[in-house]
Amino acid sequence: MVASRPTLIAVTTDFEARVQEWRPDLDAALCGLYGDDAGRIGDQLVAAARRVNERRDPELIDLDRSRAAAPFWYQQPQRVGYMAYVDRFGGDLAGVRARIPYLDELGVDTLHLLSLLQPRLGESDGGYAVRDYRVPDARLGTPADLDDLITDLRHHGISLCVDFVLNHTSDDHEWATAAKAGSEYHRALYRMYADRTEPDEWEQSLPEVFPELSPGSFTWNADLGRWVWTTFREFQWDLDWSNPDVMLEVCALALHLANLGVEILRLDAIAFTWKRRGTNCQNQPEAHLIAQALRATMAMAAPACLLLAEAIVGPDDLVGYLGRHERERRECELGYHNQLMVQCWSMLASRRADLARNAMARLPDTPGRATWFTYVRCHDDIGWAIDDVDAESIGVTGAGHREFLAAFYRGDFWQSFARGVPFGVNPATNDERTSGMTSTLAGVAAALTGDDANDLDLAVQRMLLVYGIVFGYGGIPVIYMGDELCQGDDRSYVDDPDRAADSRWTHRPEFDDRAAGERQDPSTLTGRVWAGMRHLIETRKACQPLHDDDAVVRLFDPGYSSVFAWHHHHPRFGDMVGLANVGHTVAVVDRHPTLPAGAIDVLAPEDPDPWRLAPLQVRWITSERGYATIPHPAS
Ligand code: GLC
Repeated sequence: MVASRPTLIAVTTDFEARVQEWRPDLDAALCGLYGDDAGRIGDQLVAAARRVNERRDPELIDLDRSRAAAPFWYQQPQRVGYMAYVDRFGGDLAGVRARIPYLDELGVDTLHLLSLLQPRLGESDGGYAVRDYRVPDARLGTPADLDDLITDLRHHGISLCVDFVLNHTSDDHEWATAAKAGSEYHRALYRMYADRTEPDEWEQSLPEVFPELSPGSFTWNADLGRWVWTTFREFQWDLDWSNPDVMLEVCALALHLANLGVEILRLDAIAFTWKRRGTNCQNQPEAHLIAQALRATMAMAAPACLLLAEAIVGPDDLVGYLGRHERERRECELGYHNQLMVQCWSMLASRRADLARNAMARLPDTPGRATWFTYVRCHDDIGWAIDDVDAESIGVTGAGHREFLAAFYRGDFWQSFARGVPFGVNPATNDERTSGMTSTLAGVAAALTGDDANDLDLAVQRMLLVYGIVFGYGGIPVIYMGDELCQGDDRSYVDDPDRAADSRWTHRPEFDDRAAGERQDPSTLTGRVWAGMRHLIETRKACQPLHDDDAVVRLFDPGYSSVFAWHHHHPRFGDMVGLANVGHTVAVVDRHPTLPAGAIDVLAPEDPDPWRLAPLQVRWITSERGYATIPHPAS
């Protein structure tokens, strides 16, 4: 008798297999967004994914396969990110290509290029008002130049990350232009109102994102004869995601970018996408469903492409974008750890780590397939996202601490070493954010104009301390262009009428070729910072416990309120304990119970006592076995 075989699902192609794998996710998300219309929208998205997959370059199909064979490729300690404006880093696309050897030398394999796609004519919020998502900014090069750049990056093992602005388009995008010309279909892609009745109602609960640059959340457009929802600048028109056509249109653009070879789509301002009356219209549950639907669609068509959540939100809302909900969802693989970033600066200013510990300890664990983008600076201002409950846990008020940080980093506080510039000052809420390069905020600018040589040493130590935390925390650490060279601010924006009101331009300098030329000279300031960053990069790459898939990070109290202490545990690659002493005095910490007596600080392996920390010292302690002797899974 022939034994009957279990019925197997017939899988004919990789694509069909992925549809079977992801369609349930897609349907669940679309049901939550569009109810009865979900089936129709789902069918259309699968059809779009199929078309795009059929046209996908064979080299990208190979990439899809190799990523599928090593699904945790982005969670390896070897990964190091870099973010830069195309024009400021390389002049144009060809110029960025010419800088690939520099990125190789630095040790970077993930590159976030800002302001790459065709922006609005004139002011464009630094490229975040996109006129055409399908082509690069014509001033930077042609589509063929972009193709050459992406291919070259890929051949060097560098994954390209590109901004995907999905909350709004520019007011000169073809949809906006058609809307102005009277197309009802295109008008319905946006949120627009004939009079102030609804805008006034919505504004009762809407915070202002750019209170100085663009007060209010609606802009009158004379061509339309309507008020348009504009959360950010007056020329950035919010899309109406409750209209399923927006989902279809935006997914088509995302798929297009994936087929260009973009490996990470940065979902810009994802938190703002869904509007709900009576709320601040941020972090609504549907914003997560949008990301999940996009995740599923992309996974079918272009599985090598990851999603990065740009959700710079409070600690309670952060981990949801990585798929942590009551029931875990597949959402974005990557998200900015803005809480770690804010807490790094808070620790440097207050010289205490207990607030950071309490705030970070409260964060839910990230799902096994998700990883943070860790960073200390980026092209945006720093919003002082200190939660009231966390502040109260150390006996201060949230408002008081936020005010302190804003004053400290503008240089208006006793013993402040920072020389930042205020951003987004809102007298109605007393909110103030901060602009400035890492070096400026860490004390380099002040030290260079002062007369105490020791101040410069301290400033460099602060820079390497905050980078030492983010490089050793897990996730993909991202260097902001110029930090590796200790570049300072660029105050020339104040003379440019288009930029003068937006202090974020102070930390968007041109790449400094002169400084880069000094990077190998340890007697220079640049050389010191470069060497320090390179040391962090190389040490991290060899530190196997920093693998992130299924890892957990636990904050612990090392017995000093001035020492930030974390334990990175990986079930296969072992344990690493990170310690950062933000205080003024030496700290001697007890050995962590997971580590043996012979554990070493991989940043200073010769140091006989890894548990003793000088002021502003960072240590990454692990057992010798865990360090470098466990082979890399890919080798
Ligand atoms: C994101 C960008 C920021 C921009 C905003 C609106 O937060 O990082 O630069 O102003 O979105 O697109």
